[in-house]
Amino acid sequence: MDKITVIAPAKINLSLDVVGLDDRGYHLLDMIMQTVSLFERVTVTKKEADITLSSNARYIPTDSKNVAVKAAMLFFEYTGIQGGCHIHIKKSVPIKAGMAGGSADAAGGIVALDKLYETNLTKAQMCEIGAKAGSDVPFMIVGGTKRVQGVGDIINPCPAMPRCHLVICMPDKGVSTPAAFANYDTLGEKTLVETDKLVAAMEADDIYGVAQYMANDLEKAAASEYTQPIKEELIQQGAIGSVMTGSGAAVFGVFDSEEKAKAACEYFRGKVRSVFVAKPVNFGATIARNK
Ligand code: C5P
Repeated sequence: MDKITVIAPAKINLSLDVVGLDDRGYHLLDMIMQTVSLFERVTVTKKEADITLSSNARYIPTDSKNVAVKAAMLFFEYTGIQGGCHIHIKKSVPIKAGMAGGSADAAGGIVALDKLYETNLTKAQMCEIGAKAGSDVPFMIVGGTKRVQGVGDIINPCPAMPRCHLVICMPDKGVSTPAAFANYDTLGEKTLVETDKLVAAMEADDIYGVAQYMANDLEKAAASEYTQPIKEELIQQGAIGSVMTGSGAAVFGVFDSEEKAKAACEYFRGKVRSVFVAKPVNFGATIARNK
């Protein structure tokens, strides 16, 4: 086998609470993260040497600035294998959205390389490699519903998100993650994030409770003029709750009916840069069955 395709889902944050700073100035977080049915397709081909990357999206870096290239370099370093690969990314997840599209690509790359080079790494080992490439990469390898803490390196189990439908809106302008965190420090303002109440609602399989306790400490710091209007419009369109994901700029709404979600998606089409209907999924980067 010299070529493999991995399906790598995007994520949303049902919650994000900034709980401290580590000694590098990175923010310590407490988050409920959920993979959703919006997928990157990452195809990795074995090569003798070098790591190269191509994509249908012209706006992503193809050198070591790309987190998937960085992750591949780290894979070879970790395993001691002398090899290379070409990574092709079919992008569906918007960039600067807070949906970890780049980290999904990196997660996909690691999962593919493990199979191609028959290294049989455990998920924990893959996460160790991923963590060095970017904060969200370990969760994108594991996926499902998880309580993620530290700087993304501590992944704890969490009851599954109740059945629901999501409408995810990406506004015209994205948000840079470092800028959002820097702004958070300057603002010095906290949002109430009641993670334990959110987890209790998940435990009770209560989607209305989940919608009520979704919260994101970075909403103000992301400083996107689109956040509040989109949140309000999602509610007007029938969402039972709405919140920004990650460091933004995408905003999603939770719906209790597929019809309402589809109608809301139609409403937003043309009003925002892109809009998707999605569902929670219970997996992370996974080898595609047909390739
Ligand atoms: O790891 P990632 O590439 O997502 O982080 C980008 C930047 O966002 C970091 O260099 C840091 O400035 C900021 N960040 C942070 N705390 C986190 C994650 C990211 O301050 N937990």
